[in-house]
Amino acid sequence: MSRNKLTKFAEFLAFPNTYTPWEEEKSTLEQWNPKHLPVTMELAAGTGAYTVALARTYPERFFLGVDIKGARMWTGARAALDAQLDNAFFLRSHIERLEENIPQASVEEIWITFADPFLAEGSAKKRLTSERFLGIYSRVLKQGGLLHLKTDSTPLFTYSLETIRSWRGEKGEHFLLENVLHDVYADPTSPEILTSIQTTYEKSHLAEGRTIQYLRARFVAL
Ligand SMILES: C[S@@+](CC[C@H](N)C(=O)[O-])C[C@H]1O[C@@H](n2cnc3c(N)ncnc32)[C@H](O)[C@@H]1O
Repeated sequence: MSRNKLTKFAEFLAFPNTYTPWEEEKSTLEQWNPKHLPVTMELAAGTGAYTVALARTYPERFFLGVDIKGARMWTGARAALDAQLDNAFFLRSHIERLEENIPQASVEEIWITFADPFLAEGSAKKRLTSERFLGIYSRVLKQGGLLHLKTDSTPLFTYSLETIRSWRGEKGEHFLLENVLHDVYADPTSPEILTSIQTTYEKSHLAEGRTIQYLRARFVAL
């Protein structure tokens, strides 16, 4: 591993706006968000650029970036500290283990931004919109909470539309698709937030001329 990466891991760990479960005493969302602001999570946050931009734009909300790659999220955590943002925080974790630190029904919105599409045969269950992950989101989201997905991958988008439409919880909980955009930057109905803030991967996809798709689904807990 490069020295640069090791330095970033150590700094990430020491930053006051980050949490690495296997390295630190147990803490949860309630401690990271002491003002109890409404919570939005960005999953697969990468550098956390989107989390930081949202936190700047909406100071009345709390933003949690989640990714397993600490050296990447170092960038967002450092930027949030430099900008003195007290409403952005970064959790280094597998999304599969989210519920160890995020209480049930505590999150208003989840953004999944440019997640890896995992197209190889047999790897569909790693996709962040597979049934297992939708189950996790159904437990941490509040009733009426929103799931947003932005992607440049048509196979992932098509798959996500199918799983989100068909997923049912044990008590009949489900997700209602509210908005589907097949070309975010060409569609005049695109909400401004979809074009005004871009993630690190999104910028490079746009530079390559790729089309960005978006969906929004509302969680209905019965
Ligand atoms: C293609 S990058 C996108 C990063 C960022 N959202 C962006 O748009 O710039 C996908 C990210 O998802 C993270 N990731 C994929 N599966 C994950 C999982 N199960 N748990 C945590 N992170 C995951 C990877 O570590 C990687 O940083």
